[in-house]
This record gives sequence, structure tokens and C-alpha cells, in this order.
Amino acid sequence: MVEIKKGLEDVYVKETEITYIDGQLGRLYYRGYSIFDLAEFSSFEETSYLLLYGTLPTKNELEDYSNKLRKYRTIPDNLKTFLKSLPTNLNPMDVLRTSMSYLGMLERGNDPDAQIRVIASIPTIIAYYHRITDGLEPVEPSEELGHAENFLYMLKGKRPTKEEANALDKALILHMDHEMNASTFAAIVVASTLSDLYSALVAGIAALKGPLHGGANYEALKMFMEVGDPNKAEEYVIERLRSGKRIMGFGHRVYRTYDPRARILKNIAREITKNTQYETLYEIAERIEQAAIKLLSGKGIFPNVDFYSGIVFYALGFRPEFFPTLFASARVVGWMAQVNEYLKENRIIRPKALYKGEVGKPYKPIDER
Ligand code: CMC
Repeated sequence: MVEIKKGLEDVYVKETEITYIDGQLGRLYYRGYSIFDLAEFSSFEETSYLLLYGTLPTKNELEDYSNKLRKYRTIPDNLKTFLKSLPTNLNPMDVLRTSMSYLGMLERGNDPDAQIRVIASIPTIIAYYHRITDGLEPVEPSEELGHAENFLYMLKGKRPTKEEANALDKALILHMDHEMNASTFAAIVVASTLSDLYSALVAGIAALKGPLHGGANYEALKMFMEVGDPNKAEEYVIERLRSGKRIMGFGHRVYRTYDPRARILKNIAREITKNTQYETLYEIAERIEQAAIKLLSGKGIFPNVDFYSGIVFYALGFRPEFFPTLFASARVVGWMAQVNEYLKENRIIRPKALYKGEVGKPYKPIDER
């Protein structure tokens, strides 16, 4: 008797010391540290170090690592020329996926800092294309600023406020890793053949692009915009569910309760939209959340990371098509940490499919078919 686990639900592919999700209690830990503590006290630099190398860095380790992240922000000139040559209406995830491939083509030899360089370059690629599509001149990265601060600086051409940089910093921490999700698994499948780092990351980006995964943040914001008025939220949810559509940013394979990342992002979204033009969007989201929880919580369906993240990214000045790339800019850390761990005890991933067709059919020449 062969049991097929659709969607590989509950199939374990490796042991890990990186990320632990308690789907019943709604808890998430990176290397044993609660996501609530990391989001409150840590930084993009520190948490990415923790995920990649296994421990919280000392002062010196953090300084060395942060200096490298700053130094590697500049992207190669031929990639800049390539980005400038592109049409301005492309899906930014396609642009990021192709840029990763482009970086991979240029890579020569075994650079020990390749992983840090990838983490540092992605925001530059995203901000570069964002500004090009806005009809603006790209802004070169600054070596003076922190990771999130510099990202917003490259996007807007001016230093962000402390609150803005903080909001992005926290949002990126929350997206950094999530155990064996589809994009991480895709990256591991490629890495398990002993292909190269960039090819594995291209696979990760490709998988993350889908609306059931990293594309859901954009889809959730589209819903809020479509509703337009907080008083119409409940009716919208009822109608959407009645017509068989999903509430985007709701539901999760592992969480059967409120995703802790959504809890933190909700607070960030509330604070960052207060007294701004985005306040109504936040109110709509909150009302959709209330209505959807009423109807879906019985099935263990609650807001996930993508429900409120889009509002945060939007309020920070990113256009909705770019949201999944922001997810990717953080998740790349998790892809690499998980791939590094898998490769320590590598075995090529090669599952099976249960054949249900016929065998031994007589071959007919083409003019007899
Ligand atoms: N709205 C309405 N119903 C839902 C939703 C939703 N968002 N999510 C799941 N369901 C229902 C689904 O219709 C099914 O009902 P029934 O058993 O009556 O047919 C049941 O819940 C189980 O759904 P499933 O598709 O088998 O669950 P899954 O574990 O395979 O899928 C999921 C998980 C995240 C793909 C799904 O919940 C979903 O499509 N959510 C909307 C998209 C989304 O927000 N994705 C982001 C996921 S979290 C971060 C990330 O990975 O990027």
C-alpha cells in the first residue's frame, strides 16, 4: 500500500536546528530565540548572522559581518546596464529571478563571502528597478547606513525616518526563515544535485513568486483596495467566500492559529499608518480580519505573515508589485541557512511517483493511428 502525501504534508525531509514552528500555539523560533524577542530587540544584520552561523554574534563578529554587508551592496556595472535596458512593466519577481541568474553567470571561483554578497545585493537590485520603473535615476547604496535604512534610502533618495527604517528592519526579520516551506524546499532540491548557490536561489525566488506563497502579500493588499471602505469589509468577505475564492493572507499549512508574524506586523502596520493616507487601508484590513476570523477560525484559518505585511511595505513607499521581492530579500537568508545545513549530510532529492497508466502498449506507426 503506497500512501501519497498530497503537497508533502507532514513529510519530514531533514533534521534542523534552524527554525522551529509551533503551529498549535502560534510560536516561531530562530535558532531557539523567540521571534517576538528578535523582532523587538534584534536587527536584520544580527538575525541574518544568527540564522547563517548558528549563534548570536559578539560585538566584533557583528561589526565584521555588517561591514561586509555594507561593502557588498554595489552591484556589477553590467547588471546595472541590464536592469536599465529592461521594459518598465515587468513583474519585479521575474526581474529579481533573472538578476540572480545574471549574478550567478558572473560568479567566478569559490568566493567565501558569496552568500553575504547575495544578501547585500538584493535590495540594490530591487531599489534600482523600482526607481527605473518610477522614471527616476537609481540611487547608489550608502556604506554609512544600516541594511533596512539603506534599502529605503536607495528607494526614496533620502534617509528614512528612524520609525520607517525600524518598521522595515522588523518586517524583514519576520520573513527571514520558515522551516520547510515551498521556496526553501525548491532551493534544497536544486542544491541537493550539487548545483551552485545561485541556481538554488533562482529556484527559491521562482517558487516564492506564486500567489499561494510569497505573492499573497500583494494579493491581500489588492483585496483591501478593492473593498475601499471599512463598512463594506464584512459583506466583501461573505461574498468572496461564497463565490469560492480565498481570503489572501489567511490560512497556513502549519499554523492552526494566529501566525505570530502577523501579530507583530499588525502592530507595525497600525503604527506606521496612523494619521497617514494609509490609515483607511489599515482599518479595512482589520475589518476584513474580524469578518474572516468569524467564518474561518473554526477550520483553524487565521491571518498569516502576508496579511498585514503589504500595508507596511506600501506605507514605506514600495509599489505592490514589488512586495514579493521584499519577502525574497529576507527569505534568501533562510534559503541559504537551510541549504547549508542540508548539504552537510547531502543526499540527492529523488522521490517517487506512483504509476497509474498502462504498460506494454503495442507501438503503432504514425499512419496507422
Ligand atoms: N481562505 C478561505 N479558505 C481557505 C483559505 C483561505 N485563505 N486557506 C485555506 N482555506 C480552506 C480551503 O478552502 C480548504 O477548505 P475545504 O477543506 O473545505 O476544501 C481548507 O481550508 C484547506 O485548504 P488547503 O488549500 O488544503 O490548505 P493548504 O495547507 O494546502 O494551503 C495555503 C495553505 C497557505 C496555501 C492556503 O491557506 C491559502 O491558499 N491561503 C491563501 C494564500 C496565502 O495567504 N498564502 C500565504 C501563505 S503564508 C506565507 C507564505 O508561504 O508565503
